[in-house]
Amino acid sequence: MERYIIAGPRKLVGKVRASGAKNAVLPVMAATVLTRHCCIIHDVPYLKDVYVMSDILQTLGCAVELMKSSTEGNSLIVDPIRVVSHEVPEELMRQMRSSIFLMGPLLARLGRVKVSYPGGCAIGPRPIDLHLRGLRALGATITERAGYIVAETDGLRGCEIHLDFPSVGATENIMMAAVLAKGTTIIRNAAKEPEITELQNFLNAMGAKVKGAGTDLIRVEGVDELGPAEHTVIPDRIEVGTFMVGAALTGGCVEIINCIPEHVQAVTAKLREAGAKVTEGKSTITVEANDRPLAIDIKTLPYPGFPTDMQPQIMALMCIANGTSVITETIFESRFKHAEEFRRMGAKIRTEGRVAVVKGVPSLSGASVEVSDLRGGAALVLAGIAAEGVSVIEDIHHIERGYEKFDEKLRGLGAAIERSSR
Ligand code: EPZ
Repeated sequence: MERYIIAGPRKLVGKVRASGAKNAVLPVMAATVLTRHCCIIHDVPYLKDVYVMSDILQTLGCAVELMKSSTEGNSLIVDPIRVVSHEVPEELMRQMRSSIFLMGPLLARLGRVKVSYPGGCAIGPRPIDLHLRGLRALGATITERAGYIVAETDGLRGCEIHLDFPSVGATENIMMAAVLAKGTTIIRNAAKEPEITELQNFLNAMGAKVKGAGTDLIRVEGVDELGPAEHTVIPDRIEVGTFMVGAALTGGCVEIINCIPEHVQAVTAKLREAGAKVTEGKSTITVEANDRPLAIDIKTLPYPGFPTDMQPQIMALMCIANGTSVITETIFESRFKHAEEFRRMGAKIRTEGRVAVVKGVPSLSGASVEVSDLRGGAALVLAGIAAEGVSVIEDIHHIERGYEKFDEKLRGLGAAIERSSR
């Protein structure tokens, strides 16, 4: 098993470039199945989830080429002319949540799809009922048996769908299924995350007619076929937020380049409330902190509220805050596994259901901790950099699913972090 060895305390100081967004590139890659023409995607982060999505596309019949390009990120070419299989192998489905994004495109392209339940971070049950309800509304017949889901249609037809919850994945899956349906589809209570707008932009670059992404009402006018597209992935707003918190937590000064300040407004507001100095440029953000952070309350909400994917990182900051903070996780049922690990580092945290009460301590101590999910793992790394002494972060494969060159970027900012195999 791979691990990080971290010696603290260190201040994070310097400049770091955010990679392309994991949660944007994965649905965009799935959407290439909707066309028979070549697609080129730039600033693709080299992450395990991208490799798994590439494997899925190749299993379906696509030709996929990942190209190491210059410092400005990597490019990916997908040639989906030969999509011949409608089945996503279980061993690939189980590796990540995003594998479910193949349902909409395969249904639209081939009229059938066979998948198993997707994998993903252990942050609570990850149902897909909203995905299936939307696809049924579009005219798919869906049967679930022996752990498999088979969906078939003799042609998807536009309809009106009202999501019970603004699910990011369900919004994306329904959008992709609807672009080749007959007629118009309206998605109400749609997710408003920037990754939804990103998918709309990519679909429209292929010739689709999607409007309204970024609002809670998305309108898709079905077209007969799609063409080729070239697209550059937006910066990863959660990676940006993670480095912002790292600067505040270590009392450093970090400038993040290749970012969209608008996408991290909620994180900026909370860091300013906690006493950090945040300066926004056109495509940069600089966070500087000299004093101990103030304790603040946080509640995670759908975008543009405070992102659930930043909850573990802000909890790390509150561990050393001056005062007591209350953190409420409204999106996922059990996304506090990192609290137990912070306690091993000397944090004072009590969790009750979806609420965590964090009583700030002057500093954390290095410890050996276990990673159980992507963002909790990243938060533990930040805590290890700020803590006094050596920390060993076990099972870092979770982290490397979502952070490209994480240890390399942190070393570039002055962290004493090394990767090692046990
Ligand atoms: C996406 O997951 C992200 N993953 C998650 O990021 C992120 O935390 C989440 O959106 C919320 O922002 C990707 O984009 C690959 P949801 P997704 O559907 O689509 C419930 C990371 O760390 N729900 O918006 O799975 C669900 O249980 C990952 O990068 C249903 O009940 O999130 C959850 O409580 C972690 N039925 C809530 O909605 C459904 O059919 C939000 O889920 C679907 C979801």
